[in-house]
Amino acid sequence: MEFYRDTWAEIDLDAIKWNVENTIKQLDAPAFLYAVVKANAYGHGDVQVARAALEAGAQGLAVAFLDEALKIRAAGIDAPMLVLGASRPEDAHLAAAENISVTVYDVEWLNGAKLAAGQRLSIHIKCDTGMGRIGLKTKEELQQLMDQMQQKESFFFEGIFTHFATADETETSYLEEQIKKFRELVDSLPVKPPFIHCANSAATLRFRGAGCNTVRLGISMYGLTPSTEMSHLLPFKLKPAFSLHTRLVHVKQLEPGEKVSYGATYEAEDSEWVGTLPIGYADGWIRKLSGQEVLVDGKRVPIIGRICMDQCMIKLPKAYKPGTMATLIGVQGQENISMEEVAAKRETINYEIPCVITSRVPRVYKRRGEIVSVQNPLL
Ligand SMILES: Cc1ncc(COP(=O)(O)O)c(C=O)c1O
Repeated sequence: MEFYRDTWAEIDLDAIKWNVENTIKQLDAPAFLYAVVKANAYGHGDVQVARAALEAGAQGLAVAFLDEALKIRAAGIDAPMLVLGASRPEDAHLAAAENISVTVYDVEWLNGAKLAAGQRLSIHIKCDTGMGRIGLKTKEELQQLMDQMQQKESFFFEGIFTHFATADETETSYLEEQIKKFRELVDSLPVKPPFIHCANSAATLRFRGAGCNTVRLGISMYGLTPSTEMSHLLPFKLKPAFSLHTRLVHVKQLEPGEKVSYGATYEAEDSEWVGTLPIGYADGWIRKLSGQEVLVDGKRVPIIGRICMDQCMIKLPKAYKPGTMATLIGVQGQENISMEEVAAKRETINYEIPCVITSRVPRVYKRRGEIVSVQNPLL
């Protein structure tokens, strides 16, 4: 294996496949499915996830920035690809050269777009229907953009889309308002582009794509619920793809009154077994996770004292051998530490957790339980 530390994340590519295949089965009509692999596939590994998702029936890939798209192209993946976020107009030629579609929401962008002679750039127009992020808001703005685009042969109007702010909440009035605004904008177009899309995972799973011919699947492709609030509304059981593991590197007995870690905040009450794990805040396992439980031998044990940059300590019920595996996210025996549990401890959402497990933690890819590749950017 191409790493030399006892901490790693496992990515179950069969779980990615399962989530994509079952999502496709749920859709009313066949829809074009973009697998959202931005932010290194939410920390899972963009190229590996992209390949698994495409194999499972996704037809395109969506990223946030042009750099991410170029990285995936450089890995030899030639699937349709859309940059969802803002790109610079002066970089338009790079996108066109690699057949990468970009998002546009104002006329100035089109005027400033630098393209080489003969190049053609595919454009998706972004509408802001209530997210307050990027996107045009009115029919007039849309018309202006269309007029400008039609004057130039170098632009191909490939798609139009919006993004929902509350699709993962059980109360749907704001979402319905956004859908209505988007329909009005799309209906005002004299000619419709091939791709019309608004649904993220929540809207794809709850509303089967919300009536569009294209969907963008992010969080639930990774087997995670878009929110705990809507987890009971999921149409099938998602399979989480990401788990996080380490191994005990030192086990010792503390005498009553002996202390643990910076600040000496933890004091042994009794004679206690303490294990050291080689993972810390530089791996994304931040100090706020002190007190969080991990699994050893299928049982929950707590992290004690402050989490260091590269290590943290756990209280053990007995002496375990160095080398014993500890699971920080995932299943051991009958126990499970979910992404949602870790997110709750960090007072955030499940999306954030795999994204912030840093690249120092090698990613190990598995299919049918066997390791198929390892990604370690350090080596
Ligand atoms: C524009 C856009 N579309 C789709 C997605 C995917 O959303 P989700 O991960 O909730 O499926 C995101 C994620 O933030 C996004 O920003």
